[in-house]
Amino acid sequence: MSRILSGIQPTGYLHLGNYLGAIRNWVTMQNDYECLFCIVDLHALTTPQDPQMLRQSIRTAAAVYIAAGIDPKRSIIFNQSQVTGHTQLSWLLSCLTPLGWLNRMTQFKDKAGKQKDQASLGLYAYPVLMAADILIYQATHVPVGEDQKQHLELARDIAGTFNRAYKTEFFPLPEPQILGTATRVMSLRDGLAKMSKSDPSDYSRIHLMDNADTIALKIRKAKTDPAPLPFSPKELESRPEALNLINIYAALQGKTLENVCQQFAGQSFAVFKKELTDILVATLGPITQESQNLLKDISSIDALLAEGNAKANLIAQKNIEEVHNIMGLLRP
Ligand code: AMP
Ligand code: TRP
Repeated sequence: MSRILSGIQPTGYLHLGNYLGAIRNWVTMQNDYECLFCIVDLHALTTPQDPQMLRQSIRTAAAVYIAAGIDPKRSIIFNQSQVTGHTQLSWLLSCLTPLGWLNRMTQFKDKAGKQKDQASLGLYAYPVLMAADILIYQATHVPVGEDQKQHLELARDIAGTFNRAYKTEFFPLPEPQILGTATRVMSLRDGLAKMSKSDPSDYSRIHLMDNADTIALKIRKAKTDPAPLPFSPKELESRPEALNLINIYAALQGKTLENVCQQFAGQSFAVFKKELTDILVATLGPITQESQNLLKDISSIDALLAEGNAKANLIAQKNIEEVHNIMGLLRP
């Protein structure tokens, strides 16, 4: 049996990287798999959050999932914090995870920075909770952007350790699904940095809730270089900002980099940016509008999440009882 689980942190605004690297792939996977899409609000708490804003971001994330095409009738959309099995399993797995494995995690090193001793235990243990998110549902496939590859490898290692320690095959080893051509969308201000919610500049990313004028402005301001569009992708090797914009265009249009280079070869970025803006607005406009519509009725969003939470709980509860039993704890 195949089962998909993935999640996004409800911190700040969801952006084009989240859409092209994750959500867009989730939508198509619904046709072939049983899917669970989580709003990982407990992971959001690994960095400081304003309670009012966090609540709003959780509901906005739910609205965006649905507006982008996740169908709550076919897939389970739910809140990590409302399914207690995640934190229960996280503790059990943390007792099997060597510190050395966590010390290798590059995201922790990046986020903790130089003040490692000041970083929280939550930030350090983040990848174990992520492993629990996946394993509590015995998920087999996890569609994510490239930045999550290392965390997925850790989840596989933890699953393998559990299975070996208890001579069982209870946890399938989850497969990362890093799909499409935009698995790593870069900042609009720096072609070497990932587009991310934590970049202080709003101009570094397109938010999924940006209106057409804001998208046009951000793309107009996006960093490029003075050269025109090249004839082939080979010439983009030393032009990260140009490569990123062309890659975004290719991903949105379902074309290869070669196709896009041939289409615009020798033309200026001013011309290309207009075209890119048009397709961004055409793709994201309906998602923004539908999200805003949904957000007018918060009680319906809360009701949809409550339904999803109940469905997720049913699976998680059964599995945590099974894990307790395997590990020698008593069942209720
Ligand atoms: P996060 O915003 O860190 O919670 O990420 C949620 C999902 O979006 C994960 O699957 C990430 O891999 C993916 N993602 C985040 N940023 C990017 C990006 N710049 N390019 C591609 N995928 C991304
Ligand atoms: N760590 C992921 C990110 O920042 C979010 C996440 C948490 C996740 N739990 C997950 C993704 C489980 C996939 C599966 O992008």
